[in-house]
Amino acid sequence: MIYRETILTTIPTIAAGLIKQGWVVAFPTETVYGLGASVFDEAAVARIFEAKRRPADNPLIAHIGSLDQIEQLASELRPYTRSLIENFFPGPFTIVVKKREQIPLIATAGLDTIGVRMPRHPLAQRFLAACGTPVVAPSANLSGRPSPTTWKAVFEDLNGRIDCILQGEATEIGLESTVVDCTGDHPVVLRQGSVSLGEIRSVVPAAVLGSDPDDEQSPRSPGLRHKHYSPTAKVQIVSEASEARPEADSAFIGLGRDGAVFAKQYIARDATDYAHNLFEFFRECDRERIRTIYCEAVPEVGIGSALMDRIRRAAQG
Ligand code: TXA
Ligand code: MG
Repeated sequence: MIYRETILTTIPTIAAGLIKQGWVVAFPTETVYGLGASVFDEAAVARIFEAKRRPADNPLIAHIGSLDQIEQLASELRPYTRSLIENFFPGPFTIVVKKREQIPLIATAGLDTIGVRMPRHPLAQRFLAACGTPVVAPSANLSGRPSPTTWKAVFEDLNGRIDCILQGEATEIGLESTVVDCTGDHPVVLRQGSVSLGEIRSVVPAAVLGSDPDDEQSPRSPGLRHKHYSPTAKVQIVSEASEARPEADSAFIGLGRDGAVFAKQYIARDATDYAHNLFEFFRECDRERIRTIYCEAVPEVGIGSALMDRIRRAAQG
């Protein structure tokens, strides 16, 4: 892999110009930062996998700047998929649909389906509009590390391995998008996110949660079988703050306050604030050589479901 300095810019048209030349560019969205390349440029897409050290069997999400680009990606849309698009695009929501033949198989890891998402983040929208083509983008972290919610986290993992970072603010939501398989006769949630199952059901009542992706019987969301979201520190889930043990090298993140003093701690205002801060907290703990991170469990409603999903994966890591 050729090492060259990664360009930093705040100007979306500059970042988009590099995409058009076949380069790979990280950009902010409302969920996490993504690492993008033109969906039709096989060499550039290959460089995404190389830069992230991503397993080749893990498909990418194509990001669109306008609704009409769906036609370039999807070969067919079910009526319920159109309802989901009307309600949740643009936003932290990804549909998996049958792909057009023209989409290179490297982007979809050999699958005949493709994930499609239209971010609502203003800078992402300006960038995608200027690219003029759908941009495939996984989260812009080294594979297995927590997804990046700041451009500095992208820089920490990928400086010298990618061509450019479009610098924005810390991302609003902090967890990756809800991924919904829309190829069957009803929607199946493959990955939970800030758009909850309840919200999806209010549009399509037949929607269900997919079964455990670690279960080999249900290999429908390839990415979720891989190790995920893990800091180097050990993550331990506690049902309340008082169960966490303050030690010289332990940290706490949660909603409760017990008066105990940890080497590092973050008391979140609510589950939304907890989600917004989780991945960056994990990274800070690694930078400060924390050995145990106690994460307080939250009720699994709304974003709490996605938050607990990510914390459980980190605890397995
Ligand atoms: O919020 C997000 O979704 C961020 C931002 C950058 O948009 N992207 C992201 O991408 O999290 P990534 O690659 O880290 O996660 C994509 C997930 C993986 O679990 C992958 O397996 C699943 O979506 N996925 C993508 N395409 C799929 C497909 N055709 N069928 C089933 N699952 C798919
Ligand atoms: Mg990822």
